[in-house]
Amino acid sequence: MEQKPTPIGVFDSGYGGLTVLKELEKALPQYDYLYLGDNARAPYGTRSFDTVYEYTLQAVKWLFEQGCPLVILACNTASAKALRNIQQNDLPGLDPAKRVLGVIRPTAEIAGKLTKTGNIGILGTQGTVSSHSYILELQKFFPEVKVYQEACPMWVPLVENNEYNKPGADYFVKQNIDQLLAQCPDLDAVFLACTHYPLLLDKINKYIPDGTRVFEQGSIVAEGLVHYLERHPEMRSRLSTGSTRNFTTTDHAENFDKQATVFYGKSFSSHRIELL
Ligand code: DGL
Repeated sequence: MEQKPTPIGVFDSGYGGLTVLKELEKALPQYDYLYLGDNARAPYGTRSFDTVYEYTLQAVKWLFEQGCPLVILACNTASAKALRNIQQNDLPGLDPAKRVLGVIRPTAEIAGKLTKTGNIGILGTQGTVSSHSYILELQKFFPEVKVYQEACPMWVPLVENNEYNKPGADYFVKQNIDQLLAQCPDLDAVFLACTHYPLLLDKINKYIPDGTRVFEQGSIVAEGLVHYLERHPEMRSRLSTGSTRNFTTTDHAENFDKQATVFYGKSFSSHRIELL
């Protein structure tokens, strides 16, 4: 029996994935999207591999239960700590025809083309940095490129607590950028490897030297998905095209809606779900 087309699932630990969803919508506006933010358990950045894996798997299962044939982990921490396990060990048992994609691979696929000096900077959560996922993925595509990483543990709390555009944020942004540049002053491409960080872009640009470009991930991930769907007509045919957007959170829905606008640029009304 032919299956009814269904939405693309987009998952993040909280709000950050909305910066990716915004770009997915620009590139592929025709599709339906179902967003899930695990706000009740965010941030993920400092949690162990086992915990991030367990939470992410619950989220993927829930989005699959809602019918999504394709789930985007719009979270670097979940992509770094859970994606490979889910793809290799869980997907075959859950539904081998469904797909879970992350944000690290599409970024790594193009990152090496954006540097002239051959030195790339990665700013991410503790979890993403300690996983070494960017180093490993970049090596596959651009073995000659050197990757320098800096964990910025205060940046997600600054964003989640609405402090990202306040003077206090300057201290932490400058500190981490100085530490990254101390590892290699000759970086010409720096990637925001956390979906929360685009909100700090003005501050980041203030402390990044002229001649070094800072790249957000949303449009890179969106371009990656466009190419993926071009190569996979069997997945395309399973996606519904009503241009609807639905939003769910594991925490208080009204609070989510209020805060989400700064990430997404538009208001919406979500509903609360429970992950088990
Ligand atoms: N948005 C997540 C990421 O891209 C980080 C937020 C968190 O620590 O939960 O890594």
